[in-house]
Amino acid sequence: MKVVVFGATGDQGRAQVRALAQAGHTPLAVSRGGNHASAFGGEVQPLRADFGDHGSLARAVAAGDAVFINLPSTSFQAAAPLVAATAAIAGAARAAGSRAIVFNTSLPVPRDKLGFAAQDARHEMRRAVLDAGVPAVIVQPVVFLDNLLKAWAWPSIAASGTIVYPHKETLDVSWICHDDLAALMVAALERPALAGSIFDVGGPDTVRGPELARRLGAAWGHPIAFRSQSIEDFCAGMNAVFERVATLEADRLVGELGRIYRWYNEAPEHPFKVDMAPVLAKLPVTLTPIATWAARQTLPGPIGGPAGSPAA
Ligand SMILES: NC(=O)c1ccc[n+]([C@@H]2O[C@H](COP(=O)([O-])OP(=O)(O)OC[C@H]3O[C@@H](n4cnc5c(N)ncnc54)[C@H](OP(=O)(O)O)[C@@H]3O)[C@@H](O)[C@H]2O)c1
Repeated sequence: MKVVVFGATGDQGRAQVRALAQAGHTPLAVSRGGNHASAFGGEVQPLRADFGDHGSLARAVAAGDAVFINLPSTSFQAAAPLVAATAAIAGAARAAGSRAIVFNTSLPVPRDKLGFAAQDARHEMRRAVLDAGVPAVIVQPVVFLDNLLKAWAWPSIAASGTIVYPHKETLDVSWICHDDLAALMVAALERPALAGSIFDVGGPDTVRGPELARRLGAAWGHPIAFRSQSIEDFCAGMNAVFERVATLEADRLVGELGRIYRWYNEAPEHPFKVDMAPVLAKLPVTLTPIATWAARQTLPGPIGGPAGSPAA
């Protein structure tokens, strides 16, 4: 199938473009720039579209047989235009006779709205996709392993060999990598009988922070510790980020972030813990263990801290 990938130049979208090509499909990679020379080595067909321009979304959708939807954060910008864009993509898919939509919510979305802005926006997007009259599957990933190599997590690993993360020490997390999310989306695309399904997805290993650190340390040949960051410290750090990049006011965003992270840590329904057995029965892919993922990564730099000290 020719698959139109919205958000193709983002971290999650790139993995989907690769996975589609590997599975023998033809990804059509959408971004605002429409220039993917650096992202894909010039081998993938680019499409230009903007979530604020519904005509461009419809033209992009009409170029393919099916659609993968990835959306940017609604923590940094107003949600309503992105909800409207999702509805526009879904409507365009119906008009174009698309064979399938696979929507990556990028984060856990409970069945009912709980009053968390980021989740509630994804809830409305999900509704728009499922109501479009096109066979659609929703894939809802938990926390990405790939986050650990990003600017908000890697510096503490580089400086002191410590993962500093706003998860309590006893929080069970089914860390998933972008490549596994992509593989699950391709499997969903290829199974029209699953239309209407909503899948919470994680990786094959559910671990607590100290065990995550131990497995990464073993793979990277350097002891890694885990330090549970308080929600207050996490929010203080994010305040600086929001003041720099967000078009919404930082105070409200930070308050919202604190509320949702408290929920992630304390909710009795364990939003970061996923039993993948029933999912894999329907979406049969081989998931990547934490140790295998770690061994495959090119690290952003050397790991700091005293080599030989035991990982906490
Ligand atoms: N579960 C987790 O562990 C986790 C971790 C990180 C992020 N997330 C979530 O994942 C989502 C995406 O993350 P991110 O924002 O960091 O993604 P990102 O990697 O920055 O990618 C965003 C993508 O959206 C595209 N895009 C942005 N604005 C657009 C517009 N107006 N029109 C068309 N395309 C547009 C970008 O394309 P161009 O810029 O090339 O046009 C890019 O491909 C967010 O909801 C975030 O909260 C979850």
